[in-house]
Amino acid sequence: MENSTLFKQLSSRLDKLANLPKLDDEKSISKLIEEKGFSRRDFMGWAGAMTSMLMLPASFTPLVAKAAEVADRLPLVWLHMAECTGCSESLLRSATPTIDSLIFDYISLEYHETIMAASGWQAEHNLEHAMEKYKGKYILMVEGGIPHGESDFYLTVGAHGKTGEKHAIEASENAAAIFAIGTCSSFGGVQAAAPNPTNATALSNVTNKPVINVPGCPPSESNIVGTLLHFILYGTLPALDVYNRPKWAYGLRIHDNCERRGRFDAGEFVQQFGDAGAKDAYCLYKVGCKGPYTFNNCARQKFNQGTSWPVQSGHGCMGCSEPDFWDKMGIVHEPLGNRLYHTAFGGLGSDATADKIGVGLITVTAVGIAAHAAISAIKNPKV
Ligand code: SF4
Ligand code: F3S
Repeated sequence: MENSTLFKQLSSRLDKLANLPKLDDEKSISKLIEEKGFSRRDFMGWAGAMTSMLMLPASFTPLVAKAAEVADRLPLVWLHMAECTGCSESLLRSATPTIDSLIFDYISLEYHETIMAASGWQAEHNLEHAMEKYKGKYILMVEGGIPHGESDFYLTVGAHGKTGEKHAIEASENAAAIFAIGTCSSFGGVQAAAPNPTNATALSNVTNKPVINVPGCPPSESNIVGTLLHFILYGTLPALDVYNRPKWAYGLRIHDNCERRGRFDAGEFVQQFGDAGAKDAYCLYKVGCKGPYTFNNCARQKFNQGTSWPVQSGHGCMGCSEPDFWDKMGIVHEPLGNRLYHTAFGGLGSDATADKIGVGLITVTAVGIAAHAAISAIKNPKV
């Protein structure tokens, strides 16, 4: 589609959303930004970065800013399943609020067990009320794997002791869009690691509605907010890979944008943590980095207000945005290269990457890794 046609299409959607009644008259994005010490320039800078992350031309920045401004027109229901709440924490509990986290202060968060004041019966009532009042209109975000089916162990939520699975199915039924936030909700996560005593599974396995996966342990705040803004802008599903992850965020491997990629290409590897290579920011492949097999944008978006990400801090990528990474990407501090075809569940496992092109490329990458490892052993026997 031509950019000008797309611009008109998105503008018209945002105009329609802007005409909907505000769910909370007291709130305005400009007031909130000012209260938190940001300027309009900061906000537009953030909108520009978001525009580029969503792979839109810079001329779409005002539209992304407007999408944030109308975010309060859409109610959001956030459910917790079996998880550690790390995904919520990564977004909401930063020492210094970012504009990403402000968007979550601004939207109409109708239900979120961690941060709402209500508890017990009142909380259950709030959820039922929100699902009824905003039937077909609310966005559903689910955090956590879902214990389901036959098992001695299960999850119950709330005063009626309803199972998590039932909660998730009911909330999915009338949602306008459904997002699985984090690897647990997207793929089962650590709960689903062998032997998986609770039969934990992905949200997409318990509902027959379309689910967009936003994996990561946790996903970055930009990926969570970007997913929300994408839906506000388009009102449709983004382009997805075979694991239903948005391609704008999970279209490239960690390895593709890694700042240590030059070290990898030069055959300069950390051999053990603390060695001279580690101090010189050599490639972490030999101490277990799974960046060549992992699709995510951590190297560009980073965490903690954009300050760092695992490889920058000196630890390899653990593959946390890939399905079953606990079982298929181990051992954490050993390279995967020699065991590509002997994963826990047979076949290519986590190396069966996001698309067919990826499978071809990863094979090339694996060959490259073996070659580089050999070169490195010859060139740098002590490093
Ligand atoms: Fe970066 Fe890991 Fe790739 Fe090395 S193997 S270049 S540390 S992503
Ligand atoms: Fe996870 Fe790897 Fe990013 S471990 S946070 S996908 S660098």
